[in-house]
Amino acid sequence: MSKTASLPSEITTALPPGYTIRELQKKDKAEVLEVLTVLTTVGDISNAAWDERFEYISKHDDTYTILCILDDKGRVCATGSLIVERKFIRNCGLVGHIEDIAVARDQQGKKLGLRMINALDYIAEKAGCYKSILDCSESNRGFYEKCGFKFAGIEMARYY
Ligand code: ACO
Repeated sequence: MSKTASLPSEITTALPPGYTIRELQKKDKAEVLEVLTVLTTVGDISNAAWDERFEYISKHDDTYTILCILDDKGRVCATGSLIVERKFIRNCGLVGHIEDIAVARDQQGKKLGLRMINALDYIAEKAGCYKSILDCSESNRGFYEKCGFKFAGIEMARYY
């Protein structure tokens, strides 16, 4: 069964009329990559590179979940990812990492970001994660607080 089939109706029916949420499909390449440009540099991804990454993610679907929200014309207008990390601590606990949340610029402000987080949260909890975490800029702190997240430290990075 697809991971979105079991999403509670509070999430799916709260989308704007005609909008739907489902897992990423191979055919979404152009639309999802366009949506991701609101977040960062995407790069020029060949069909072969897309197919290889898509196959890897599909094969490891107990670790990766990538969701898309489609608008009333069936176009991808928002995306978000959950990666489930397997730890030794917390009795071999699982931690959800929420990544790459992006809503197309002309679709922002319709609660699509909120619904995306609600859906990823639900899937993380159902997978057995004891928490979900994410990194964001200060300018997005208010958004994640509205999604129920609490400030929990600072992000550090080293780029290669
Ligand atoms: N700061 C404070 N509050 C915000 C912000 C913000 N930056 N953005 C939205 N909100 C509020 C809204 O006003 C709304 O509040 P309300 O319930 O009181 O009306 C609530 O948060 C929900 O907002 P949505 O309509 O669901 O937000 P949207 O669909 O526009 O998505 C998002 C927000 C994902 C930040 C979107 O603007 C976006 O894609 N931005 C560019 C990419 C980006 O920064 N992504 C997040 C990166 S961090 C990560 O991926 C882990």
